[in-house]
Amino acid sequence: DALWCVLPAAGKGVRAGGDRPKQYQPIAGRPMLDHTLERLAAHPSIAGLVVAIAADDRHFAAVDRIGGKPLLVTVGGGERSDSVLAGLLALPPSVRDEDFVLVHDAARPCVRAVDIARLIERAGQGEGGLLGAPLRDTLKRADAGCHSIDTEPREGRWRAFTPQMFRRGALIRALRLAAEAGIVVSDEAMAMERQGVTPLLVEGSEDNIKVTTPADFALAEFLLEKTR
Ligand code: CTP
Ligand code: MG
Repeated sequence: DALWCVLPAAGKGVRAGGDRPKQYQPIAGRPMLDHTLERLAAHPSIAGLVVAIAADDRHFAAVDRIGGKPLLVTVGGGERSDSVLAGLLALPPSVRDEDFVLVHDAARPCVRAVDIARLIERAGQGEGGLLGAPLRDTLKRADAGCHSIDTEPREGRWRAFTPQMFRRGALIRALRLAAEAGIVVSDEAMAMERQGVTPLLVEGSEDNIKVTTPADFALAEFLLEKTR
C-alpha cells in the first residue's frame, strides 16, 4: 500500500541566507521545494503529500495535485517538530493511526527513489525507521574556541537523514509528549526513541544532502542531475 508523506517546509533557512527561505531558492532554475515534491510524487510507493509552510509564507504556489497525487497544504510551527506535527494532523481521514507515514525535509531534494523503496521495505517490518549513514569522518568534541578537546568513537555513530517512517498515531503521540516535556526533538526518530522505540537505521546514499548553506545549492544541482 502506498504511504502519505509529510514535508516540513516552514523553516526560515537562516544558514542559507538569500532573499527568501532556502526551500524557495532556485536549483537548476526552479525552487528547491518543487524538485523535492516532484521527486516524491513520482515515487510509486507514495500516495499523497502534505506540505507544512510558514504562516507568513508568500512563495508557495498552491496546486492541489502534483504528479497525479494529491497535495495538501497546512501551516507549520516554530520548530521543525511543530511543522511535522501539523502535517500529521492535516493528513486525510483515509490515513489511519496505525498506517505508516513518511516525513521528508523539503531541504533534501536529492533523495533517491531506491533509498525510499529500501526504507519502506525494511522499516515497515517493525516499528519504523529512517535513512542515515554511518559516520565517515573522525568525530571531534570542541571547546568554545574551536579547539579539539577530545575524539569521540566513530563506531556505532550514524548521521540521520530523511525520509523517516513511523506509524501516524505513534508519531503524533511521541511528538506531543516531547513538546509537553519541553524537549525540542530534531527528528522523528528522537521523539520515538524517547518512547522506547528503537528505529531501524537504513543506510542511504550520501547524495541525500540537506541543503543548508549557500554552497550547497551548486552541489544540489549537480546531485539532482546525478541521481535522476
Ligand atoms: N522546518 C519547518 N519548520 C520549522 C523549521 C524547519 O518546517 N520551524 C523545515 C525546513 O523548512 C526544512 C527542514 O525542516 O525543510 C529541515 O530544517 P533545516 O534544514 O534546519 O531548515 P531551516 O530551519 O529552514 O534552516 P536554518 O536552521 O538554517 O534556519
Ligand atoms: Mg533549522
